[in-house]
Amino acid sequence: MQDNTEYWNEDGGRNWVANIEATEALLEALSQRVLDRAAAQPGETVLDVGCGGGRTSLDLAATVRPGGEVVGVDVSDPILAVARDRAVAADNLQFELADAAAADLGAGRFDLLFSRFGVMFFDEPVVAFTNLRRSLKPGARSTFLCWRAMDENPWLAAPAAAAFEILPPPEPPDPEAPGPFAFADEARTRGILEQAGFADVGHEAIDHEMSWPDVETAVSYLLQMGPAGALLREANDEAITREVTAAVRDVFESHRTAAGVQMRSSAWIVTARNPD
Ligand SMILES: C[S@@+](CC[C@H](N)C(=O)[O-])C[C@H]1O[C@@H](n2cnc3c(N)ncnc32)[C@H](O)[C@@H]1O
Repeated sequence: MQDNTEYWNEDGGRNWVANIEATEALLEALSQRVLDRAAAQPGETVLDVGCGGGRTSLDLAATVRPGGEVVGVDVSDPILAVARDRAVAADNLQFELADAAAADLGAGRFDLLFSRFGVMFFDEPVVAFTNLRRSLKPGARSTFLCWRAMDENPWLAAPAAAAFEILPPPEPPDPEAPGPFAFADEARTRGILEQAGFADVGHEAIDHEMSWPDVETAVSYLLQMGPAGALLREANDEAITREVTAAVRDVFESHRTAAGVQMRSSAWIVTARNPD
């Protein structure tokens, strides 16, 4: 099994960077929901965990002006290179290449811990969130976005099911294993945060239609970023790729609307507080 840091610095990181604009466009509406919920204020100091290409860090840095600052932390060198390029003009934003689970980010430094899909990859989530909480001021807020279960996300599950009719399906994943769906279970996530010392844990369910302008754009995106993407790259077989592409195209054809392809996604906005 590949280590998380290695994954985000190798195939996972390369693939994320290659699809970063398309992914961020897809996440834009969800992003706005979680940024609104986090309600960063001028003058605040914010930590963006697993900040990726820094899109949300830049938004937060603009919101906390004047007087506030943002630190984006990410374990991936190639992804953080994108963030650094984008942020050259932002003087209240820094990026740190580090494992957020263990890095010393400073004690009692931040007013807000924020993340868009960057906190589900920790091997030991209680240890990681205990470390993150140490970096927060007393009374600081935590607001992050994470996926609900795969079967509540047909935009990923349906094309994956079609692809795995052709590709040998992977072992069914352990629902608690680090990865995009590790925080799907509300009770488990609450337990993790409470064991890490957070209070007032809340979950808000967010349903959102993922949307692509046309079928070919949706197919091409899911074949790279969906659950079958890595296996397809590994197989590196033209005939299999053609067959999988046709099967995934059928799925998206059946979700074509006048406004393009639309399929449901579901996520949680999880909120918590560092006790005073
Ligand atoms: C799904 S991406 C989300 C990126 C970004 N937040 C966004 O929404 O565009 C997950 C990010 O978390 C980062 N990541 C994974 N494990 C991490 C860890 N232990 N510490 C810091 N960053 C981590 C990855 O490198 C990747 O950039």
